[in-house]
Amino acid sequence: MYRLYRQVPVAGRYLLLCLYLCLWVFALFNYSSRCRYSQPDVFIEDWPADDSRLKSGRCYLRRDSLQLQPIDMHNAPELHHLETALAGPEVPAQMRLRPGGSWAPSNCTPLQHVAVMVAFRNRDFHLRLLLNRLHRMLRRQLIKYTVFVVEQTGPEPFNRGMLMNVGVVEALKLASFDCFIFHDVDMIPEHDRNVYLCDENARHLASAIDEMRYHVMFYNYLGAVLVLSRQAMPLYTNISVRLSRQRHRITPEWLSNSDSVCFDSPVNATMSSKNFFRINGFSNVYWGWGNEDDDISARTMEAGMLVSRPPLTLGRYKMVRHPKAVRIEGGYTHFMAWRARHYEDGLNALRKESYTIVSRQAMPLYTNISVRLSLSRHQMKQEWLSKTAILLSVDVLELISRYFNRCSLFHYSLHAIF
Ligand SMILES: *[C@@H]1O[C@H](CO)[C@@H](O)[C@H](O)[C@H]1NC(C)=O
Ligand SMILES: *[C@@H]1O[C@H](CO)[C@@H](O)[C@H](O)[C@H]1NC(C)=O
Ligand SMILES: *[C@@H]1O[C@H](CO)[C@@H](O)[C@H](O)[C@H]1NC(C)=O
Repeated sequence: MYRLYRQVPVAGRYLLLCLYLCLWVFALFNYSSRCRYSQPDVFIEDWPADDSRLKSGRCYLRRDSLQLQPIDMHNAPELHHLETALAGPEVPAQMRLRPGGSWAPSNCTPLQHVAVMVAFRNRDFHLRLLLNRLHRMLRRQLIKYTVFVVEQTGPEPFNRGMLMNVGVVEALKLASFDCFIFHDVDMIPEHDRNVYLCDENARHLASAIDEMRYHVMFYNYLGAVLVLSRQAMPLYTNISVRLSRQRHRITPEWLSNSDSVCFDSPVNATMSSKNFFRINGFSNVYWGWGNEDDDISARTMEAGMLVSRPPLTLGRYKMVRHPKAVRIEGGYTHFMAWRARHYEDGLNALRKESYTIVSRQAMPLYTNISVRLSLSRHQMKQEWLSKTAILLSVDVLELISRYFNRCSLFHYSLHAIF
């Protein structure tokens, strides 16, 4: 390589060097302009001095009531102790959790209705640590919320993305949440001022994790704790699309009853449908640990969403140590083909046969959604297509795969429009 470089005339060398530097600068700007640090102070106002503003009913947070909390990572209280401490009869009624792990402030109107999704399997200790911390913090933040523990049963490899998708669909059957928090079970928030609410961006709350020496790993990292408003999820913007020559309104019920989810034109491409195609939830194809967070990062970028983060002093998390699962084989391959799948693989790809709800129980501290995932035919087709596309590594194949997905032309025309 170096010998090749030496054969280039000096002027050419400088040109190359310059080009290389320019690329770096471009990349840096491109990335950093996508992210911004924002104080959660939009949500925090000092307690109004005059009562008139209080009467408007909005929940005001007291800045000084929200502090950095010491966290004991080695002692997780037993579940029944936690239940009595947070939801028992001795707890004052205003602070007591309602069945299903819900709470709402009683003397003010909360801004949003928040669903906290925790994808879970075999991490009891972590879950107890998290619940102990999370409930106390969210009540201090005066947030109206429900905690969902979406547990995967069966022998299939863990699929975080799909569990999150299922969680969203099931949660929306219970209430119309405005805001979803996708939370890893091993991330314990340290600062009460890291407010668990949505803004208009993809909000990444874990801006400083102790394992990463309290820094963001890379600008586009959206793992660990991610917040997305309902508008960013596709299903629930209020539009109807034409599906297989029939008009359907996209609702969770429709989702669980339909087998065909391809969108034929014509669709009224107004603002709401733009939202509809915004990110299409998580990808369902990452079986095992890794890469589904890269995928969702790519999706939000494609949708033109910015990333906001709390400052490093507030977005602090402690990570519970555990033996790391190995990265999945082929995870990166899947990721390389994300663009080909984007509109077909996600919330709108959940079918009756791709998951079974084993049980849904309102426990004192959380709503337990136990679910068995399976590879649907549709998904296998997706996977096969994306693998082939990568193996041959030709864009033409991507085109073909899109053609077979039938949504392709429509997708292209949308791209042309926007
Ligand atoms: C959806 O939109 C229709 C008319 O545009 C309206 O009547 C209906 O209430 C809306 N539904 C929801 C859930 O917002
Ligand atoms: C699309 O929807 C908007 C608002 O609902 C309406 O004003 C417009 O006429 C529609 N366009 C078409 C082509 O149906
Ligand atoms: C959730 O419910 C399932 C089925 O009842 C049960 O096996 C599992 O232990 C529960 N999980 C949690 C975290 O409570």
